[in-house]
Amino acid sequence: MSLYIKQLLAGRDFAKADSFARQMANFVYLIGDTEQRVCMVVDPAWDIPGIIEFAEKEDMRLIGALVTHYHPDHIGGDIFGHSITGLAELISIRPVKVHVNEVESAGVKQVSGLSESDIAKHKGGDDISIGNVRVRLLHTPGHTPGSQCFLADSALISGDTLFIGGCGRVDLPGGNPEQMYHSLTQVLARLPEDTLLFPGHNYAAKEVSTIGDEKKDNYYLRIGSLEDWKSLMGSSE
Ligand SMILES: [Fe+2]
Repeated sequence: MSLYIKQLLAGRDFAKADSFARQMANFVYLIGDTEQRVCMVVDPAWDIPGIIEFAEKEDMRLIGALVTHYHPDHIGGDIFGHSITGLAELISIRPVKVHVNEVESAGVKQVSGLSESDIAKHKGGDDISIGNVRVRLLHTPGHTPGSQCFLADSALISGDTLFIGGCGRVDLPGGNPEQMYHSLTQVLARLPEDTLLFPGHNYAAKEVSTIGDEKKDNYYLRIGSLEDWKSLMGSSE
């Protein structure tokens, strides 16, 4: 497998002059095939020309976009009085397909301004090929109804479902504690322990973890019952 994966931190590796980007600490990823030199961008936002320029410098051709979920800090849109650039600018520069979970498609269109023809809708379990690299789409609702994670070889890009030492909020519109509990304990915790974890935000002391380390250290993967989970999530991120 010729997996290519790059982790870019908004406000540091691109969008360097954007203090709000620094504050939000989103990771954007390029994932693809080192041999065929093609990649897709995961959650393009904040500084689209900067992301495209990074891919070009790496000699990687951008052939698509993958969306973990519809929040504006991941796909562009308005949040906290700020307007973030994202998918709409990307496809105006590079008209590529945007791959979303079918449940998330309406929200993605509404938040980003994309139209139906820009979007490729997927079900959980679908595979996407990027050159010879295969990416499995895991439907992991909880943070939003159509949140998805991307699994390629032994790398997982987890969006705002699983963070290093934490998990995504379930108290925002569309959030669902019960679904989050299921996604974490029945889907992500069942991945091989050596799976590398690439989260959607830089909220921890390290930027990459493994499923094995998170099963040891991440409290949210250790909660034994849905009842305990619900009482915890009622008052926390
Ligand atoms: Fe989010």
